Amino acid sequence: MDQYQIAVVVGSLRRESWNRKLATAVAKLAPPEFSFTQVRIDDLPLYNQDDDANPAAAVRRFKSEIKAAQGLLFVTPEYNRGIPGVLKNAVDHGTRPPGQSSWAGKPAGVMGASPGAIGTAVAQYQLRALLSYLDVATLGQPEVYIQAKEGLFDDAGAIAIEGTRKFLQGWMDRYAAWVKRFAG
Ligand SMILES: Cc1cc2nc3c(=O)[nH]c(=O)nc-3n(C[C@H](O)[C@H](O)[C@H](O)COP(=O)(O)O)c2cc1C
Repeated sequence: MDQYQIAVVVGSLRRESWNRKLATAVAKLAPPEFSFTQVRIDDLPLYNQDDDANPAAAVRRFKSEIKAAQGLLFVTPEYNRGIPGVLKNAVDHGTRPPGQSSWAGKPAGVMGASPGAIGTAVAQYQLRALLSYLDVATLGQPEVYIQAKEGLFDDAGAIAIEGTRKFLQGWMDRYAAWVKRFAG
């Protein structure tokens, strides 16, 4: 059976991040041939074009983890109606130097969680626009806007609310098929 490695990029560095918990919970819904790994972005330096010729070890590691993956999953908060700077920094690192983007041609899922009712919708649209420019094919439907609240996760880190779990399982089924379409 073919195996599919998914590189998960979480747009929050916060220890108790809702989005990191969501990324962990969603991975539990994946078919057995999929493995989800959260890639580090907290050790990436601020992007500086001067460093393109001699990127830091963390940048080289990040780019090779993205390159090795058959699919991507972005799980991001919204900061001031946009994507967090740490996420944009990671995305930019992956694109350089010119002609050596790690992103191009990969299938991706996009989701996010926020305590706000429409939280992350604006950030997700911003992210989808820039991923489109980077030749990343994002799964369009279903869109995933999770309202973060107490009781969303159980003690084992799985989704505790049945309706939400069913919805995310449906998303996962479509996402897995989406990734497989690109792997052939
Ligand atoms: C700088 C900053 C800006 C924020 N702006 C938004 C926003 O535009 N929309 C929103 O829904 N929540 C906003 N929030 C609240 C976040 O949704 C909330 O802090 C959330 O827990 C962050 O995600 P995390 O738990 O994964 O770190 C903002 C939070 C911070 C720290």
